Amino acid sequence: MIADMLLDWYDKHRRTLPWRALPGEAADPYRVWLSEVMLQQTTVATVRPRFEAWVARWPTVASLAAADEAEVMAAWAGLGYYARARNLVRAAQAIAADHGGRLPDTEAALRALPGLGDYTAAAVAAIAFGRRAVVVDANVERVVSRLFRAAGKPAVRASADAVTPDTRAGDFAQAMMDLGSAICSPKRPKCLLCPLAGECAAHAARDEEAFPVKPAK
Ligand code: ADE
Ligand code: SF4
Repeated sequence: MIADMLLDWYDKHRRTLPWRALPGEAADPYRVWLSEVMLQQTTVATVRPRFEAWVARWPTVASLAAADEAEVMAAWAGLGYYARARNLVRAAQAIAADHGGRLPDTEAALRALPGLGDYTAAAVAAIAFGRRAVVVDANVERVVSRLFRAAGKPAVRASADAVTPDTRAGDFAQAMMDLGSAICSPKRPKCLLCPLAGECAAHAARDEEAFPVKPAK
């Protein structure tokens, strides 16, 4: 129900982004992976030109595996946490050496690569390979916590799992992200424009901004 409504909304409103496949086309796993790593610290608007420059310089896993580390660090400048760039090269080398130059297509095998945490492995498995994976970034956490008035990361994760569809899990994850950034904003969410307003517990209770609940310090 929620998934179908959200996917219908996504089909109408999806943004065109340089790492996103066009409807009906296959995504390039390398581009999906790179975008997810870049987007961990940085906004879509900032990432977009940096992503384009990066894939022009290193268009494939093989080219990145052979890249000069100093040049990679220079290309990463301003994107934060240089360990992420170093791990991109290390992971590219591991993919070249152990996976024939293609990203592995399961969450577990992705998780085993340098620098790929739970979030990135789930995002790449879903978006690049269509696997059912539960993808929870800050936007998704905010949307899901509001939909179910779910408090705390374990409850949010369980709710996200419960609403994730078996098919189109990658579109579903990106739809959640787009809804979180365009509509379900931290302050004053635009519930009048939200395709899920009729299903949203926080909207019914008019306490949207109480979610996500911040952990006690
Ligand atoms: N933020 C992180 N990953 C994203 C994606 N695939 N699309 C839009 N925003 C994102
Ligand atoms: Fe977010 Fe409002 Fe939509 Fe609920 S109804 S998911 S609070 S935008």
